[in-house]
Amino acid sequence: RATPQRSISALGVLRDQEWPVPPFGTHASSPPLARRPSHPLGIIKTSIYEYLQKADPALKTFDDLYPVVTVKANFDDVLVPADHVSRNPNDTYYVSDATVLRCHTSAHQLELLKRGEPAFLITGDVYRRDSIDSTHYPVFHQMEGLRVLGPEDWGSMEPTQYAETQLKQTLEGLAQHLFGSVEMRWVDAYFPFTEPSFELEILFKGEWLEVLGCGVTQQSIVDDGGFAGRKAWAFGLGLERLAMVLFDIPDIRLFWTEDSRFLSQFKAGSMKTKFKPYSKYPPCFKDVAFWLSDSFTENNLCEVVRAVAGDLVEEVKLIDSFTHPKTGKTSHCYRIAYRSMQRSLTDEEINELQWTVRRDIENQLKVELR
Ligand code: PHE
Repeated sequence: RATPQRSISALGVLRDQEWPVPPFGTHASSPPLARRPSHPLGIIKTSIYEYLQKADPALKTFDDLYPVVTVKANFDDVLVPADHVSRNPNDTYYVSDATVLRCHTSAHQLELLKRGEPAFLITGDVYRRDSIDSTHYPVFHQMEGLRVLGPEDWGSMEPTQYAETQLKQTLEGLAQHLFGSVEMRWVDAYFPFTEPSFELEILFKGEWLEVLGCGVTQQSIVDDGGFAGRKAWAFGLGLERLAMVLFDIPDIRLFWTEDSRFLSQFKAGSMKTKFKPYSKYPPCFKDVAFWLSDSFTENNLCEVVRAVAGDLVEEVKLIDSFTHPKTGKTSHCYRIAYRSMQRSLTDEEINELQWTVRRDIENQLKVELR
C-alpha cells in the first residue's frame, strides 16, 4: 500500500480504509492514475492522445488542472441551467458555496479558451455523488477535447455542418482505433454546452454501449472565450468505462488498488491486455430496511455506507419497497454486498461494519430502522 490513506470527512465521503482512497480535493495518489504510463487509465489516455494528435498536431494536452473549481466554471460558464439536476448537492460535491469538485472536465473549456487555447485535450479526475455498484465510483476520469475551427477550415461549407462532420469523423476514427472495426451508431443527445449534441454508441458483446458525449459548441461559449466569428466542437469521454471494456476489468474499484496482482498485468503502450482476475473472494450480503424520511435520497445512503465500509462495499441495491396503506409511509429494503478484492472478510468484521452502518443510517439520514 504505497498510497497514503486520507480522510475526507469534511466532505463526508470516505474514511481511511484498506484501499487507497481517492484523492478528493487534492492530488493525493501520486502520481495521479491517468499520469502513470503503465496504469490502465494512463495506457488508454496515451493511446487516445497519440491517435488524435497524429491526426491534428495542433491539439495541446492538459493533465494537471486542479479539480476544485468554481461553481461558475463548472456550471455557469458552460451554460448549465440554474435548475439543472447536476447542480444539486445530492449530485455534485460542494467544497464551499462557491466551489465544487468538478463533475466534468467541461469545467475547463472556457478557462482554456480565454487563455487563447484553440485546440486542446484535458484529462483529469471528476467527482459525482452516485449509487454504488461495479461501474460507479465517486471519482473517475474524463477526457475532454475541444477544437476551434475557422473559415479556412469550413471553406464554402455551412460552418455548423462542417464542425459536426469533422467531429463525427474524428470520433468514429478514434472508436475504431480503440475497438477495431465495431458497429457504431450516433444517438441525439442533450448537453447545455453543445448544439447539436450526440452520443456515440458501439455494439459491444451484443449490447449498445455509450462511449462518449459530444457536439458543436454553443456559439456564446466560443465568443466568450475570445474566438468570435469561429466555430468549435467538443467531446467528453469516461476513461474507466473504456478501460473496463477494453481490458476486461470487472470492478471499478480495481483502478485504485496498489496490488501488484492487478498493476503488473498492464504494460505501457500495450492496448492488448486482457485482465485475468486473481482469486475472487466471496461476497457477504447484509440487508437493512427502514421507513424513509422526507429528505432521504439513495445517494446519501450510499455516502453513509461508503463512509463506514470504504472500498469493502461492492454494491448497494434496493430489493424491496413498500408503502403502508394506512400511514402512507414508505419503507425501503437495501441489500449491501461487502467484498474485498484482496482478502476474505471475517463474519465479525462484517457484522461490526453492518452495525455501524445501521447506526449511521439512523443518525445521519433521520430514517426509522425496521
Ligand atoms: N461534459 C459531458 C459529460 O460529462 C460530456 C461532454 C463534453 C459532452 C463535451 C459534450 C461536449 O457528460
